[in-house]
Amino acid sequence: MSSHSPYKVLCVCLGNICRSPTAEVVLRHFCDAHQLNVIVDSAGTSNYHPDKAPDSRSQEHALKRGYDLSTLRGRQLTVEDFLAFDLILAMDHENFDNIQLFKQKALKQYKTHQIRANVALMSEHDPVYKQQALPDPYYGGADGFERVLDQCESSAKAWVQMFKQQITIADQ
Ligand code: 4NP
Repeated sequence: MSSHSPYKVLCVCLGNICRSPTAEVVLRHFCDAHQLNVIVDSAGTSNYHPDKAPDSRSQEHALKRGYDLSTLRGRQLTVEDFLAFDLILAMDHENFDNIQLFKQKALKQYKTHQIRANVALMSEHDPVYKQQALPDPYYGGADGFERVLDQCESSAKAWVQMFKQQITIADQ
């Protein structure tokens, strides 16, 4: 990661209306708080909710912790995202596998050197929820939405520590 050009991270779940919009805003908050030159976006592996605002329950629970999700709109992951982003973060293992299928398509359509994105779990370096899935809250109750926020905050803090180390290495 260079401290001069922004490092681009894409958070990805299934619908892009619950987990990945939450992850996007929480990760952006912690990157901004640490003055990291990181751009964060989100997308879904499905096209279930194009142009839709995040689920009202996700918005309500997030706002109680000061995160505003209201301006976000759903979109599907594209093969071009693998050219544009440095890191794609999967919210669960099924998302991870589906993102890899998109990456295979990207590798067929573009040259290998054009593919920038590495794929990892949101919880990859999380000391509390290490490599655990971010459980889908869509069909559940309020506790599921709180769990998403707890886990996003914990995992985002861990990624910030990783990004800080990468910036230090790039600057040496
Ligand atoms: P997300 O949750 O992947 O966290 O956005 C879901 C949202 C919608 C659906 C499934 C999961 N759905 O089936 O419509």
